[in-house]
Amino acid sequence: MRVIAVTGSASGIGAALRARLETAGERMIGVDRRDAEVIAELGCGDGRAAAVARVEAACDGRLDTLVACAGVGPQVAPASAIVSIDYFGAQALLAGLRSSLAVAAVAVCSNSSTLPGADGPLAAACLAGDEEDARRLALARGGHPACAGAKLALGRWVRWSAPGAEWTGAGVRLNAVAPGAVLTPLLQDGLEHPVFGPAISSLPIPTGAFGAPEQIAGAIAFLLGPDAAFCCGSVLFVDGGTDALLRPDRH
Ligand code: NAI
Repeated sequence: MRVIAVTGSASGIGAALRARLETAGERMIGVDRRDAEVIAELGCGDGRAAAVARVEAACDGRLDTLVACAGVGPQVAPASAIVSIDYFGAQALLAGLRSSLAVAAVAVCSNSSTLPGADGPLAAACLAGDEEDARRLALARGGHPACAGAKLALGRWVRWSAPGAEWTGAGVRLNAVAPGAVLTPLLQDGLEHPVFGPAISSLPIPTGAFGAPEQIAGAIAFLLGPDAAFCCGSVLFVDGGTDALLRPDRH
């Protein structure tokens, strides 16, 4: 039985992952605003520090794997909250729990990170650790660039960190998944938004339909397990082919 912490475990992808791993007999430590072993607000520094301390206490300082899944979509207001949760909340848990980790971690990014407008000062501010500046830029630019920039930064942080001494050098693998449109409460909320709804609906999905949270949970379970022993700093797109269709010559 592995000890596995999952943020965002109360809903959507995190809940599907939790259910899958619990069924397989793993011991889960869920971290969420509600319905979790560790109730925490990951959008602020105090909440992140409390979450790290409570997970460490719950696992007695030894976690097999960690999944940073908690996040919000572009429809959340104010847009500054998006970068605080999607980048700083995820990065703080991954970095803060690194010394307790024995095997692997996965960050949940997004295929929106490759859409036009994601790269730029907001992602750079995230990676520089400047939350105040990133929040200011998010407010100025709005929900979609905030979300895409935060997820781009998270994927880059994974790639920068994974091969280094802190992670692979210490025997702990770090990878990411980049989901496309997956039918969860987050996506449903976006679809009902007057501005973001039509934008989400217009994104092409070559496989024909929105993904299911269980499909992303399967990809995460793979990255956590022994079959992914050669994966290091990978960002695995699981998006029905949207990224391949829109960027056929990039990889
Ligand atoms: P969801 O809304 O169903 O679940 C997200 C969970 O995170 C919720 O239980 C929520 O309470 C928790 N959470 C959100 N903000 C939090 C905070 N500040 N502190 C603590 N917990 C918090 O969303 P879904 O769709 O399962 O999303 C999971 C991850 O996948 C997110 O990081 C999201 O950005 C990402 N993603 C989702 C896509 C989709 O189409 N559903 C597409 C691309 C990425």
